[in-house]
Amino acid sequence: MKHLLKLQDWSTEEIIDTLNLADKLKKEKKAGIEHHILKGKTLGMIFEKSSTRTRVSFEVGMYDLGGSALFLSSRDLQIGRGEPVEDTARVLSRFVDCIMIRTFAQKEVEDLATYGSIPIINGLTDYCHPCQVLADLQTIREHKGSLEGRKLCYIGDGNNMANSLIVGAIRTGMSVAIGCPEGYEPDSELMKWAEENGNFLCTSDVFEAAKDADVLYTDVWASMGQEDEAAQRKEIFKGYQINKELMAVAKEDAMVLHCLPAHREEEITAEVFEAHADEIFDEAENRLHAQKAVLVKCMTE
Ligand code: CP
Ligand code: NVA
Repeated sequence: MKHLLKLQDWSTEEIIDTLNLADKLKKEKKAGIEHHILKGKTLGMIFEKSSTRTRVSFEVGMYDLGGSALFLSSRDLQIGRGEPVEDTARVLSRFVDCIMIRTFAQKEVEDLATYGSIPIINGLTDYCHPCQVLADLQTIREHKGSLEGRKLCYIGDGNNMANSLIVGAIRTGMSVAIGCPEGYEPDSELMKWAEENGNFLCTSDVFEAAKDADVLYTDVWASMGQEDEAAQRKEIFKGYQINKELMAVAKEDAMVLHCLPAHREEEITAEVFEAHADEIFDEAENRLHAQKAVLVKCMTE
């Protein structure tokens, strides 16, 4: 049994193994080959925030693997009325074989793992989004052929996406440059770790960050839970956008990724988004294949 609470808990080898399995499951699904590796198993999916990709990829993923998934909205669960997470963890451990949770506090995910006795998968917290980054790495490798030595540039808010991208990219030998406004940097401990363990830069100059990048990545300026700050953030983040001027300083064949949902003309122009739609929607599709690989690893190892 294995948890995926945050990406730094997984070694380079575990990450690469997951990507290899995701590639295999993708290829075989397209060839019509079924793998009922999780036959008879049930995944509980707790959502305290909205989701399209995460919910659908895990639900379809469990079905593909021969198991089933339960959608558990916190609006309906007793957890939403204050039942402690330590009790929820112990109860659900008696009913289901694995829990995927999307919530606000990272501590809630860690507590589920502490008090439960089944694998826990982080489907996004304010701190990180490890499942998305596994799909991102799969997509980069698919399009570029390799990860090691490539440069990933992330433009925008130093949020959950930035935190997990730093870990995933450094662990797989990519260099990372973050272009974000002062005061909106990624987690300081993660940045320190990245500086000590790889080639890492964080700057407020987007052109410096994007120079010679193989991959340009962005995410919304206001994340779920930051709706009240949206107007203020629109001012602060102006200029922290992937547009054709920024593309001009990246490598000529640079790819563009976005975890989605995207806000056109905010963090990315509609023009760049549409020019790179194939890459962005491959990335969305890879949520399914990567999440199936995560489920297999967490529930069978
Ligand atoms: N990228 C992502 O996690 O999408 P959802 O919020 O739709 O799950
Ligand atoms: N940073 C975004 C990612 C959505 C997938 C959020 O947390 O809302």
